[in-house]
This record gives sequence, structure tokens and C-alpha cells, in this order.
Amino acid sequence: MNIFLTGATGLVGGELLVTLSRRSEINKIYCLIRSKTKEEATVRLQNVFDLHEDYFDKSKVVPVLGNLFDDDLTESLSKDAYLSEVDVIIHSAANTSFSRFNDDAVEKANIGGLTKILLWAKALPHLKTFLYIGTATIVGKDVKDRVIHEDESPNIDATHLVKYTYTKMKGELLIREHLQKEQILIARPSIIMGDSRPIIPRSPVILWAMATINHLRLIPVNEHAQLDIIPVNYAAEAIVKLLFAKRKYSVYHISSGEAGATTALKLSKTLEAYFDEMPPFNFIDKSLLNQVKHWTKGKLQPDSELYTYREYLDYWKESFPDKSKLRILFSGLDPYLDFMELGHVFDNTRLLEDVHIANSVPADIYIASSMSFVEKLDILEGAIDP
Ligand SMILES: NC(=O)c1ccc[n+]([C@@H]2O[C@H](COP(=O)([O-])OP(=O)(O)OC[C@H]3O[C@@H](n4cnc5c(N)ncnc54)[C@H](OP(=O)(O)O)[C@@H]3O)[C@@H](O)[C@H]2O)c1
Repeated sequence: MNIFLTGATGLVGGELLVTLSRRSEINKIYCLIRSKTKEEATVRLQNVFDLHEDYFDKSKVVPVLGNLFDDDLTESLSKDAYLSEVDVIIHSAANTSFSRFNDDAVEKANIGGLTKILLWAKALPHLKTFLYIGTATIVGKDVKDRVIHEDESPNIDATHLVKYTYTKMKGELLIREHLQKEQILIARPSIIMGDSRPIIPRSPVILWAMATINHLRLIPVNEHAQLDIIPVNYAAEAIVKLLFAKRKYSVYHISSGEAGATTALKLSKTLEAYFDEMPPFNFIDKSLLNQVKHWTKGKLQPDSELYTYREYLDYWKESFPDKSKLRILFSGLDPYLDFMELGHVFDNTRLLEDVHIANSVPADIYIASSMSFVEKLDILEGAIDP
């Protein structure tokens, strides 16, 4: 098997790369890396392996220079004679930003970039499988508080909280337009946060949201809404096993399902046990977020409900003497709170049936081993580009 992998320097792609590199059935893993030189790209790949002291086999893992934004990406991949032996493509690269300031870049990478990869892929002489790393959240915001099945997406009429999920939905439709049915495999992870092993997590993404929630303590979100969260090592193991499995379907949730789901309340208990000197968590209605924003601007009406929580406002004043920082944190957190409110649980029956893997451990349990890392996260830095 000769694989072409995009997104190898990212949270999911990095873990996929390390997991794939251990499989003896794989001959080469060509990795699309956006670097100026082969040397720089090799250093970036080395960093992926070095993080957890994994072996980087340079005869097996080969960098290919390229950017999803390159106008000539399709042509440059087609011209590379080595790549004509590729029989599996794993497309994990994406712009995953929730910020509307990045909407254009999100569309350009996730739709434009994917189109360029597909135009190259469809002309490959030996392509067996195009594995697209999608996202279960493409189901949109109309569905709430229930278990969701793979067949409910992609739904062109779904409404989206952020451009990112819309582009991932469009991506699935594009793949169906360009490739043959038997070539398509879509893995839709739910929310990926941290690692369940007691090692430094591959990326602070999503953990940032939890660390921010931990600092704020008064949180406008429904603490009982179900959260489908999995660790990155589980996601990579499931996806790689899926690639080698005898499959009955072309679309699979990579998720916690009902058995492994958690809630904000359960996560808060894990956080409280470690950060026991901080105020206890208090969850309030999401509608109060606007009052929080007004308070940070010094414009909150005196009779507002938020003043019922005066001890938290005092705590915030002490922790964030510059209220504009608090405003930045809540703006960054806002889309995460919206996703948390949806109460989505993604059915994982297909995955468990076709792949020999156990249910994922609930996030409130596995995340306990990442607390010292959560403690060190710079929450303001993460808030700039959520
Ligand atoms: N994280 C989650 O919770 C989650 C959940 C469900 C699905 N997913 C899906 O999983 C996939 C990977 O996400 P992730 O969390 O690993 O994201 P990530 O950590 O942000 O990594 C994104 C990867 O894509 C690459 N990339 C971005 N723009 C590119 C461009 N213009 N040209 C070439 N490469 C580019 C990045 O390269 P650089 O290192 O050069 O920036 C990086 O390797 C995505 O398709 C996402 O939709 C993620």
C-alpha cells in the first residue's frame, strides 16, 4: 500500500502518520507539507515523530512540498512520477477555524484545496481508497439533544453554526461528484480533545476551550447537554483500523457514542478535583452570555440578572484586571458553547461492528491525566484564533 497523506503536521494527521508508519503493510507514506524546502519539511515531520519519541523511518515517510492554496497543486502532484503509485489517499488537511474572520481561508482550503486534490486523485491509475477525514458536526444545528446516525448527513438544507462545518459538508458532496462509490471512505470524527495516554497531547486545540472554562468558572452553557468527545489516539487507532477493515459502509462516525459520552458537569468535576483552590463551577443559561459581554464593556444595566452572581464578577475582576481580555476569552469561547448546547451524540454502532475496537473512555475520565498540561496552557493566546 502506498499512501498520500495531507495534514500530517496537524492534531489528527500527526497521530495518523505515526500510527500508519508502524503498519508493515504500508510501503510509502507521502506527506503533503507546506514548507519551502524538503529540509524544512523533513524537520516538520521529524517533530511529529519526536513528540512522543516515535521512530521516523525516512525511507517510508516522504515529504511532498505543496499547499492547498497553490493554483498549480493538481498539476504539480500529477507531474510527480513517484506519486503515480499511490493507491490510498487520506485527506486530513483542513482549515478548522471557527472564527468568521477566517471564513474565506476556510472555504479556500476546505473546498478549493479539496477540489485540487480530487482532480489529481481521479486520474491516478491505482486509486483504491480516498479516505476523507470529515466531521460529524456537519449535521448542523437544527438537530438537538439526541443520537445522530451517519445517514442524516450530508444534508444540503442543514444550517451551520460556523463556515467550517458547512465546508466540510460540501466536501463530502464534492467527493461523491468526482470519485467512484467504491473508492470513497468517509470517517467523521466527533470532537477530538487531548490524548488518553499520560503524555503531552499533540495539540492544545479544544483543550484550550476546557482550560478557558476552567479559568472562568461561571459558564453560560447547559451543563447536562451530552458531549461526544474522543481522544486523538482513539481517533487515529479507529481510523487506521477502519482503513484495513472489511467494511459494510462508506461513512463511519468516529465517536464516543452514548456509552462514552460526557457532559460539561462531569468535566467540571474532574477539573474541580485538580484545581481545588478555585471557585466552584456554576452553570448559567446561555442567554446570559450577552450580559457577560455587556459587563466586560462596563455597559450592564444595574438590574441585570448577572449581578446575582456577584462573587464570580468579583473573581473575574481579580483574575482579569483588564476586562478586554475577558471579552476576548468569551468571544473565542462563544462558538464552542454553541456546539456544547447542541447535545449531539454520534452513533458509533457501525464503527464498533466493523472495526475491532472498544468504546472510547469518557472524556471526564481520560482527561484527568492531562491536567498538568491544561494548567500550563496560555488561554489568551488560544482565544485569538479559536
Ligand atoms: N480536531 C477535531 O476536533 C476534529 C473533529 C472532527 C473532525 N476533524 C477533522 O480532522 C481533520 C484534521 O483536523 P485537525 O484537528 O488535525 O486540524 P489541525 O490540527 O488544525 O491540522 C490541520 C492540518 O492541515 C494542514 N493544512 C491547513 N491548511 C493547509 C493548506 N492550505 N495547505 C496544506 N496543508 C494545510 C495543516 O498544516 P500546517 O501544519 O502547515 O498548518 C495541518 O497539518 C480536519 O479535516 C478536520 O475537519 C477534526
